[in-house]
Amino acid sequence: MAGTCRICTGDLLEFVDLGRQPTANGFLRPDEADGEFFFRLAVGSCGRCGMVQLIEEVPQELRYHAGYRYHASGSEGHRAHFEANARRFLATELTGEDPFIVEIGSNDGVMLATIAEAGVRHLGVEPSANVAQVAAGRGVRVRGTFFDEQAAAEILAADGPTDVVFGANTICHIAHVGSLLRGIDTLLTPTGVFVFEEPYLGTIVGDLAFDQIYDEHVFYFTATSVAEMARRHGLELVDAEKVAMHGGSIRYTLARPGARRATAGLAALLTEEAERRLAQPATLAELGRTVERIRRDLVELLTRLKAEGRRVVGYGAPAKVTTVTNYCGIGTDLIEFVVDSTPGKQGHLVPGSHLPVLAPDAFSGRYPDYAVLFAWNHAAEIMANEQAFTAAGGRWIRYVPDVHVVAAAEAEAA
Ligand code: SAH
Ligand code: TYD
Ligand code: ZN
Repeated sequence: MAGTCRICTGDLLEFVDLGRQPTANGFLRPDEADGEFFFRLAVGSCGRCGMVQLIEEVPQELRYHAGYRYHASGSEGHRAHFEANARRFLATELTGEDPFIVEIGSNDGVMLATIAEAGVRHLGVEPSANVAQVAAGRGVRVRGTFFDEQAAAEILAADGPTDVVFGANTICHIAHVGSLLRGIDTLLTPTGVFVFEEPYLGTIVGDLAFDQIYDEHVFYFTATSVAEMARRHGLELVDAEKVAMHGGSIRYTLARPGARRATAGLAALLTEEAERRLAQPATLAELGRTVERIRRDLVELLTRLKAEGRRVVGYGAPAKVTTVTNYCGIGTDLIEFVVDSTPGKQGHLVPGSHLPVLAPDAFSGRYPDYAVLFAWNHAAEIMANEQAFTAAGGRWIRYVPDVHVVAAAEAEAA
């Protein structure tokens, strides 16, 4: 037995081991490179409830703190997506008398800023003080703690019940599921909803997006496993909708049993997951084997290019770069540096593999022969912005769903 399920205490069956890894967003200053924290990044599925999850976890205080590097407003796509999210809530769930919305993991206020501008009662719960401060500067009301049942009781006492609890790319980060869902139960009005959108196991399996696996992603949800998780905590999954984020996420809606009618979209997704045998041991074991093939192919390609005297750099330093470079053992011997537009990452090192992160002008100032597209979920935006690189003869390297050099015509059409 590899471990115990955090939802139902069933036994976990391990299917992929990505080796010794640091915290994925723990970008280091060069003087911090010694004494880095490592853990074993491996994923298993529960034989009883089907939930896919990390075997070992990193304490949340080591992941989220005043030096948290991820700023949600960093890409145009993210900003537009969360503003649309806020407008949808304003037009639907938040139209009653003096409505109230709580966001778990509100980060730099990317979603709640729009709610605040509309003058609607809200609260962001955000333990990473640096990003929480950015949100506060945008007029967002923030509580600087982790969300759990105690925080929920305090919010209820101070602000009353909540029409919507929202979370994006945060709920799968929370290992204390029991406390989380008891907190939701404490806060929601009888007709309130808990809406969250998170990376999807179906995308990881379908597109072999194994670099979505890292310390912060404790759970890899499916509609099937979320329905079971909700049921065990007295809530009901009533909707699941595909959203085009992080390569393909799902937006789940939980409500009190019987309060809302389950949608046809949910039924369709549950059927699709059963047909794909998504969380079946055979499917997951196949994923584990494919990930090993990607590692072999990527290292082979980079080693060959190096031997041929080509210059190779990385484009984007998302959390994903940590998983790939540490799993594949890629250091500055194979990739000179990576560039990223986030000022807080520049001048730092990628956790574990210690590739330097530089500003984008290190790329455009002297184009390399090849660029590995680590921020592959922004491929269209990046390739369109970097047409001059392709025009100068530069080539993109992608590694999901398979390792390949992108044809010039394809990059030019982006
Ligand atoms: N919602 C944003 C940010 C996601 S990053 C987006 O979708 O882009 C995840 C955020 O969740 C981080 O800012 C982290 O500090 C916060 N977080 C992690 N655990 C939390 C918890 N238990 N309660 C509240 N926020 C948490
Ligand atoms: P993101 O998509 O948020 O992924 P993750 O959750 O894995 O961190 O990260 C994308 C990263 O790519 C972010 O650090 C910003 C960077 N980036 C660029 O450097 N240039 C660009 O044009 C875009 C779109 C993103
Ligand atoms: Zn379980």
